[in-house]
Amino acid sequence: MRKPIIAGNWKMNGSRSSIKDLLDGIKAGMGDVKSAEVAICAPAIYLADVSAQLTGSKVAWGGQNLSTEASGAFTGEISADMLLDFKSEYVIVGHSERRTLYGETDELVAEKFEVARKAGLKPILCIGESLEERESGVTNEVCGRQINAVIERSGVKALAEGVIAYEPIWAIGTGKTATPEMAQETHAAIRQFIAEKDAAVAEKVRIQYGGSMNAANAADLLAMEDIDGGLIGGASLKAEDFLAICKAAG
Ligand code: 13P
Repeated sequence: MRKPIIAGNWKMNGSRSSIKDLLDGIKAGMGDVKSAEVAICAPAIYLADVSAQLTGSKVAWGGQNLSTEASGAFTGEISADMLLDFKSEYVIVGHSERRTLYGETDELVAEKFEVARKAGLKPILCIGESLEERESGVTNEVCGRQINAVIERSGVKALAEGVIAYEPIWAIGTGKTATPEMAQETHAAIRQFIAEKDAAVAEKVRIQYGGSMNAANAADLLAMEDIDGGLIGGASLKAEDFLAICKAAG
């Protein structure tokens, strides 16, 4: 059985004071979350606050991006060791916003996945198709290509050391969620793609759904066989909504 994982991706939102209230709210409700693993991916500048507030709780944390470099003259970048310095457990790699707004390629994302994993972080690898790609019927090819970049660089077994987040770009921040059946179909195709290379890894790796998952639709999505959790944007910014999703995961 794969343990469900719900992760909040705060993106570029929050302030020291709003984060304090949000984390107080989440911590207060965690007693009702029985089996799901819960994590928060915060803006790097707030990781000191987040780690201070979450140490000793059941909530893990991490970053939203990392550099492929270990240190040096890379202005504005954050290394894996810096994330680890604040006891991060996770880091998102290849979010569609990084791919589309900051030009991250499949190869760069695969390198980030490898750097994170080798440093001891658990990478959350984001994949997913645009609306145009879905409408042209190439969703599975796009997801396969994005995963294959990681397999080619690090080998298929490396996938089991991270988490995959299937996030159809057209569902992100739009309120348009994939139906549970539509999401399940793609999740199953992703697992099948991995199974053709290594059945044990395919069985083990957790695949989250992301894209307008909220308190109202989480239970139906999470009930699907191949949906092992969620990567939550907007709804992770309200304690009540985020906790409702965590509870729906078990
Ligand atoms: P929303 O939940 O706001 O659609 O964002 C999803 C996402 O991009 C999480 O990484």
